[in-house]
Amino acid sequence: MTERRCPVVVLISGNGSNLQAIMDTSADSAYEVVGVLSNRPDAYGLQRAADAGVPSAIVSHRDHPDRESFEQALMEAIDTWQPRLLVLAGFMRILTASFVTRYQGRILNIHPSLLPAYRGTNTHQRVLDAGETEHGVSVHFVTEELDGGPVICQAAVPVEARDDKDSLARKVAAREHKIYPEAVDWFAQGRLVMRDNAAFLDGERLPEQGVRIPPGPAG
Ligand code: GAR
Repeated sequence: MTERRCPVVVLISGNGSNLQAIMDTSADSAYEVVGVLSNRPDAYGLQRAADAGVPSAIVSHRDHPDRESFEQALMEAIDTWQPRLLVLAGFMRILTASFVTRYQGRILNIHPSLLPAYRGTNTHQRVLDAGETEHGVSVHFVTEELDGGPVICQAAVPVEARDDKDSLARKVAAREHKIYPEAVDWFAQGRLVMRDNAAFLDGERLPEQGVRIPPGPAG
């Protein structure tokens, strides 16, 4: 590819397995991870970034008296890398309207449920408690509404009698690692945009639950 690939900054708070999948896929994609930001100094994803030779920075919410000053520091760190896209990958801080407005239409998030069901935290246990037979993951644009922005794509997993929250988390994670790099690549190729609070792929307005991505040959 001769033109510059779409510069992406990934925000993490922990393990960073989605970050890993996104970095692993970048060589064959239209995007490039130019920076990784963590709000937690002990996030394992920072090690993953270092191993991949990707620069990283820590902006700890603990070093800031309020959300506004935390986000100001976050924006300054992000803007040194001049990304076209921000990718939230297990980033566990709620972002304010002014942050979201600054990067309007250029922030993606992955959430472990079939949105709009099960917004918020602890989704695997809540799905089990409710006796659901299907669970899954959604990639969506970030708006001011928590876990409420337009959905881009989803992948489902069956909930089986033997599942507990850890087995469900593993199943969901396996699907996350397939669909998130794909959605990032769609954006990087200019195929995916947010307009009028809806997601459009190849010019088509996506339905409320986005594109349903079936399991690949390996599950
Ligand atoms: C992922 O399962 C992601 O869906 C979830 O955190 C995990 C991060 O894993 N995100 C949320 O719950 C956001 N509300 P990772 O650090 O290994 O990528």
